[in-house]
Amino acid sequence: MANLTTKLGRLQMKNPVMTASGTFGYGTEYSDFMDLSRIGGIIVKGTTLRERQGNQYPRMAETASGMLNAVGLQNKGVNYFIEHIYPTIKDLDTNVIVNVSGSEIDDYVKTAEIINELDKIPGIELNISCPNVKEGGMAFGVSCAAAAKVVSAVRKVYDKELIVKLSPNVTDIAEIAKAVEDAGADSISLINTLLGMAINSKTRKPMLSTITGGLSGPAVKPIALRMVWQVTHAVKVPVVGLGGIMNATDAIEFMLAGATAIQVGTANFIDPAISEKIVEGINDYLDTNNFSSVTEIIGALEI
Ligand SMILES: Cc1cc2nc3c(=O)[nH]c(=O)nc-3n(C[C@H](O)[C@H](O)[C@H](O)COP(=O)(O)O)c2cc1C
Repeated sequence: MANLTTKLGRLQMKNPVMTASGTFGYGTEYSDFMDLSRIGGIIVKGTTLRERQGNQYPRMAETASGMLNAVGLQNKGVNYFIEHIYPTIKDLDTNVIVNVSGSEIDDYVKTAEIINELDKIPGIELNISCPNVKEGGMAFGVSCAAAAKVVSAVRKVYDKELIVKLSPNVTDIAEIAKAVEDAGADSISLINTLLGMAINSKTRKPMLSTITGGLSGPAVKPIALRMVWQVTHAVKVPVVGLGGIMNATDAIEFMLAGATAIQVGTANFIDPAISEKIVEGINDYLDTNNFSSVTEIIGALEI
């Protein structure tokens, strides 16, 4: 058995496999299907300062090799999380990371400050794909200046692992990655969903109430891989790769491209135990190819 441990910034991980925010609830919903302690980490649902109702239905649609969603960050807010969710997840034997979202910088800062007090949460993942309400609704993550501003504001109040999750809906992903690294990110995860749209020709209506939504699943994998490769060559901080990872081979490809860890998202809707199987598959690959440690395949792409 190869050594699967890896280090993501300040985080010690038993293996590089995590579950992606919004696709795995708070983790505990999955404990009947798999052993949560077998994976390296769980990124819980997007959490905001105040409760959010989310978007109107329909907010999910299936597409060729993927799915579109417009859930709209439905959650009960950080105080509810602390009172009702944290006690149920704090003793899970894996890294439980909270995905933090907001509509303005102050929301992110206050939420991060509150979560900083939680002993058993070793890190947050900042979702900067959210619309910046005070600046006309453009997502924080699509401009270097806005991305850097929110990251440096959170960095001032948060002293554990700060993962910043990038939006792929940009022209130059490497430029945004450098901006968030300079602003104090400990690590970078990518990609969030790609903006897409689906139409029902019979009703002549959009498939989602919001008209456009976020595309995920195998359809986005080549784009995600390309972006992970570009970002790992642009920054020094470790990178977490995700987007369309359905099996261990996909996960290994992201690590060869340079990712230190990976996340499994849409695949959880197809097989709720897939993340545990991906850990086993990575181990088999390492054994078969005579690698003694998973760290040996990070960035091992031969060009
Ligand atoms: C239903 C759904 C809800 C999501 N909610 C969040 C969220 O709250 N915060 C976030 O940063 N990303 C969220 N995402 C994006 C995923 O975490 C992931 O970045 C994206 O789906 C790409 O990975 P995948 O192709 O493996 O699913 C969500 C995705 C889906 C499908």
